[in-house]
Parts: sequence; C-alpha cells; structure tokens
Amino acid sequence: MKTAIYPGSFDPVTNGHLDIIRRSAKMFDKVIVVVLINPLKNYSFSIMERRELLMKATKDIPNIEIDSYDGLLADYFNLREDVDVIVKGLRATSDFEYEFQMAHTNMHLNPRAETVFIPASIGTTFISSSMVKQVAMFGGDLSAYVPAVIHETIRERLTSEFAEKKRIAELRKEHD
Ligand code: PNS
Repeated sequence: MKTAIYPGSFDPVTNGHLDIIRRSAKMFDKVIVVVLINPLKNYSFSIMERRELLMKATKDIPNIEIDSYDGLLADYFNLREDVDVIVKGLRATSDFEYEFQMAHTNMHLNPRAETVFIPASIGTTFISSSMVKQVAMFGGDLSAYVPAVIHETIRERLTSEFAEKKRIAELRKEHD
C-alpha cells in the first residue's frame, strides 16, 4: 500500500489543488491532504475552516484523508509511519525554485521525506488561493477557480474581511 502526503496552506482550497489531489489519488492507494502553517503568511481561514472546505470539496474522492498539523512537515512525516512520499504540484517554472528548496529542506530534516512533483493541468496553472481571495473580495465570479459547494463560504468570509480592512483604513485616516 503506497500512501502520499499532499501538504499545503489551502487558504482556501482551489481547483488547482483539487487537480493535484484527484490525480495523486489515482496514483497512490491513499492520499493524506494535510493543512499546515507557513508562519510567514497571513491566513483568511482558520485551520478548522480550511479542513472543512477541503472536506466539502473532496467528498467524492474515496481514498483521501484530511488532516492538519501545527509543526514541521518533516516531523509530521515521521509521526505518520504509514506515509511514503510527499506530493507537490508545480504550476510553472516560477514555483520550482521555492518548491525545490522546500523539498531539500524537508529531506535534510528527515531523510525519509522524499518529494515528487506533479505538473499542474494546463487549465489550472493560473489559479492560486491569493488570486481566488482577490476575486472573492470584489464579488467576482469564482466558478472557474473553486468548486461550487464552497463558493458561498468563501465569498461571505472574504467580502466581510475586505469590509473590515476598509473600515480599519478609514479609522486610521481619521486618526492621522
Ligand atoms: O500552500 P503553501 O502555502 O505553498 O504551503 C506551504 C506549506 C504550508 C506546505 C509549508 O509552508 C510548510 O510545509 N509549512 C510547515 C512548516 C514546514 O515544515 N516548513 C518547511 C520547511 S522549509
């Protein structure tokens, strides 16, 4: 039995992530999709919310598990004795440098933690969570970027986050 880990921030999960999840679920017996933290990023959704969005978006894929971990991927890999490999998607050569560094850091921290890269399908190469968030904040059409089942949650959260940002900016202006 071969098990892969697909790690990411998933803030929120996009059709690009789902492309990699679906294709790796065909290559491996089981895929563990794990929500991790990049401490240098500001997230719009909590870990539990990101897990819930992932669960809704992947309901039809039988051989996956959704998990989360507040620590290093290399340590999570060690904790889960059943995993064989880390799977990452590459959208363009611009992703490569950063992903290459991460793959080597993970392997340096845990020599068992090999990474395999899967090229994004041509129709998803331009999709990113940050682009989805911008479109959602301005009330744009999300249908090509995230599954319909999570549109509303994403739209509600991002429009209220944007309204709050504008409110704070207005207050700052008043105080200056
Ligand atoms: O979707 P992202 O934001 O590109 O995912 C990056 C993520 C969360 C997978 C990465 O930051 C991560 O593995 N975070 C956990 C801490 C860690 O192990 N960092 C890698 C050492 S460089």
